Amino acid sequence: MAINVAIDGPAGAGKSTIARRAAASLGFIYVDTGALYRTVGLYSIRKGYDTKDAEKVNSTLPDIDIKLGFSGTEQRVFLNGEDVSEAIRTPEASMGASNVSAIPQVREFLFDLQKDIAKNNDCLMDGRDIGTVVLPDAQVKIFLTASPETRAKRRYKELVEKGSDVKFEDVLDDLIKRDYQDTHREIAPLKAADDAVLLDTSELDFEGSLNAVLDIIKGKINK
Ligand code: DC
Repeated sequence: MAINVAIDGPAGAGKSTIARRAAASLGFIYVDTGALYRTVGLYSIRKGYDTKDAEKVNSTLPDIDIKLGFSGTEQRVFLNGEDVSEAIRTPEASMGASNVSAIPQVREFLFDLQKDIAKNNDCLMDGRDIGTVVLPDAQVKIFLTASPETRAKRRYKELVEKGSDVKFEDVLDDLIKRDYQDTHREIAPLKAADDAVLLDTSELDFEGSLNAVLDIIKGKINK
């Protein structure tokens, strides 16, 4: 049976960087499920649709084919054959992803894709509802968090390093807004599974967070 590790938590908690490195160290694939919601959002944005308009967003689903590719442990995401791994990383795509992720049909549309990957691969999957909805039977569940200011600082640094011309206040505002949307939506809201291990990384640097995550995983799977 494949080993599944679920890592959930709010935006900017460091999930993706930590999960990617932890997966590499364990020899598992890393699945970033946020990329799937971002891709659905990107398609609607490109069409000029309001990503909060469920009817419009749902009308796009039959036209969307999403595939994940893995080179080593690195994930690439393809939208109808186009590699959109970079295009989905803009602040606009982040908010679009949060908007479309509140639509039940979108969650349903992406569910099987996530399940299939987890069934066939030892993987570390990160998102918002992995431990609660997508992989309720995952052998390891971690809920990773940090204070909003710490998370906004990390996100800001990441965006600036990529050459983005953003303001810190806007990043913090966006993050607080997204947290609110993600935790208050009716379907699959962001919350820790009852059996998840909680890890607050506010006071930890990257290596400290990574080691804490690896310790939790290794403790559960005896690796
Ligand atoms: O992890 P991220 O920032 O790339 O996610 C983008 C948005 O997608 C996030 O605001 C909420 C949504 N999301 C979700 O609802 N469920 C997931 N499993 C992953 C992401």
